[in-house]
Amino acid sequence: MRIRPGRLEDSAAINRAGLRINTRVRPEAMVVAEEEDGSVLGFAYIFRSNMHPSRYWATVRVREERRREGLGTRLISEVAKERQVQAPFYFRGRENDPAVKWLKSLKGREFQTSPPMELPLTDERNQEWFRHLPGAPAGVDVVPASALSQETILEAFLDTYRWVHEQWSRPASREYVASVYGPDLQDDLDQDISSFAVRGLGTPEQEVLAGIWSFHESLTTLDAVGESVLEDDPDADQLVAAVLNRTVAAAAEKGFEALNLDGYATDRHMYPLERSAPTVTGTGLVWIEYDPPEA
Ligand SMILES: CC(C)(COP(=O)(O)OP(=O)(O)OC[C@H]1O[C@@H](n2cnc3c(N)ncnc32)[C@H](O)[C@@H]1OP(=O)(O)O)[C@@H](O)C(=O)NCCC(=O)NCCS
Repeated sequence: MRIRPGRLEDSAAINRAGLRINTRVRPEAMVVAEEEDGSVLGFAYIFRSNMHPSRYWATVRVREERRREGLGTRLISEVAKERQVQAPFYFRGRENDPAVKWLKSLKGREFQTSPPMELPLTDERNQEWFRHLPGAPAGVDVVPASALSQETILEAFLDTYRWVHEQWSRPASREYVASVYGPDLQDDLDQDISSFAVRGLGTPEQEVLAGIWSFHESLTTLDAVGESVLEDDPDADQLVAAVLNRTVAAAAEKGFEALNLDGYATDRHMYPLERSAPTVTGTGLVWIEYDPPEA
């Protein structure tokens, strides 16, 4: 067995070995473990996203019959030698993924979680809870996306994105986040179900205070992100509840059955609110950072 540098051209041999590889990524470094006859036993690659460059996304896969021989750990050590900066590696996956045990052996540190956050809209107890969500504070209107300009919606999104990610996965630049999410917001945002809390609507002082940006995940489920635009707005809890109030009503009216709030445990206002709903479903995700072991 040997470990050698790899390239995406190895993907055919990797697939023949029964291992999946995503050929759309551009790895910064890649290694392949193979037998003398060229049959692949495993591979690893790393890359950094331009948007969140402080850690490497690392993928490693070992053939099932060759697991627990130290190969996964060795592949990670080898691929780490080729990295351009001494940044740690990270994994994002389900809390019950068997890989989490492997990451524990590498002293992985959990740095973020996304607990289940799907609100079934047809659930009777949820419907009762929705009815008791507050409206906006005095002087604030809650309006659909169609009442605002594309630019206003994007700017509010970028402000919100910044504080939501600041502490644990700092975005490289506002411009980069805009270039990634701007087209989706323009083309795919549901103009009616997305809701915004706005002070001074239509005036030169108009200010967006909170929002829920909603997208169609399927014919029955919406994918959404929502928070206050400023982390420490004194009215943030009420503002976030008020936009949720409008969004669940608009979504139910259009026949959607679930609203999947795609957020994090550190979302200061939306997460505690959504957690207090009677019925919350979905799958939790965990983010684990680790330092690749020295070879
Ligand atoms: C995760 C994976 C890469 C581990 O590869 P591996 O070669 O089996 O891992 P190692 O032999 O280096 O394991 C080192 C230690 O991790 C722990 N570990 C690894 N797999 C484990 C498992 N399934 N259950 C419990 N502990 C595990 C053990 O402590 C192990 O040491 P031990 O065998 O002496 O007890 C492999 O299981 C795999 O390819 N899984 C599918 C793809 C995947 O989930 N990749 C990871 C994220 S991209």
